[in-house]
Amino acid sequence: MKKILVIGSLNLDMTVQVDHTPVVGETILSNRMDMNAGGKGANQACALGKLGADVTMLGAVGRDMYADIQLDSLNTAGVNTSRIIVKEDVSTGIALITVNKEGDNSIIVVSGANATLSKKDIDDNLDVIKESDIVIFQLEVPLEIVCYAAGIAKKLGKMVILDPAPVPKDFPEELYRYVDIIKPNETELGMLTGIDNTEEHLEEAVACLKEKGVKDVIVTLGEKGVYMVDKATGAERIPAIKVQAVDTTAAGDSFTAALAIMLAEGKSLREAVIFANHVSSIVVTRKGAQSSIPTLKEVMQYIELNEVAV
Ligand code: RIB
Repeated sequence: MKKILVIGSLNLDMTVQVDHTPVVGETILSNRMDMNAGGKGANQACALGKLGADVTMLGAVGRDMYADIQLDSLNTAGVNTSRIIVKEDVSTGIALITVNKEGDNSIIVVSGANATLSKKDIDDNLDVIKESDIVIFQLEVPLEIVCYAAGIAKKLGKMVILDPAPVPKDFPEELYRYVDIIKPNETELGMLTGIDNTEEHLEEAVACLKEKGVKDVIVTLGEKGVYMVDKATGAERIPAIKVQAVDTTAAGDSFTAALAIMLAEGKSLREAVIFANHVSSIVVTRKGAQSSIPTLKEVMQYIELNEVAV
């Protein structure tokens, strides 16, 4: 089985259910707060583990109870957590999340240990990068470290997948050259390319990222599906699966993970996107981040049911 490495963030999510997302200066009441393992990197690793991949997570946590919750969740999902570094004098990352009645979220991340991931941490774990076939990144750890590690992975001939979230103001151009597959959502695509109303200019925006050096671009459009260009089948919009969303947290992370596991199994980009679409459509029907991610068995049953329903 091919090996997948996730390099990135681990957070403890504090999720508050709200009627609506508060606007600037507004105070609102909530009657529910949940604490859950989250973080874009850890969510991807968790999804890979639950979907049956051989996956290792490289990242940093503090020496606190938040880290214990996180490690417990990843270990239960079957993730190799031996490369998660415990840092002293810093807390595990924390995400403050509101989820409104429509299931849409807003997130503030207090980086904590994620911000301390260093070049030395990457160098100390070169062996695991060498052993991996696919390396996945997101952008909740220092950009400089993502560039450094992605450059190493690329030089070693690994497939590099980037979930460009959150998009920084100063996205480094060199990073594009290290990335095989980038998976922005509509907003992120606009921020990366400077193109307004990307949904109407998908072809142009995708071409813009390809010119910068990325091989494949997959754009998730929420309820409007996924835009992709497969070498064999060309440009296509894969429709979203209609579900009642209760919480969209980790939908993008699990999409990326599902994509990676399918590619690791030798499937085409199109097949991988269709599978990932199913996985994230389950995730949005459940609350929380890692708690919402289905197992492979659940996904297969869901796909079977959907095919019957078509
Ligand atoms: O993508 C969802 C994740 O973003 C949450 O789990 C939160 O921790 C933030 O990193």
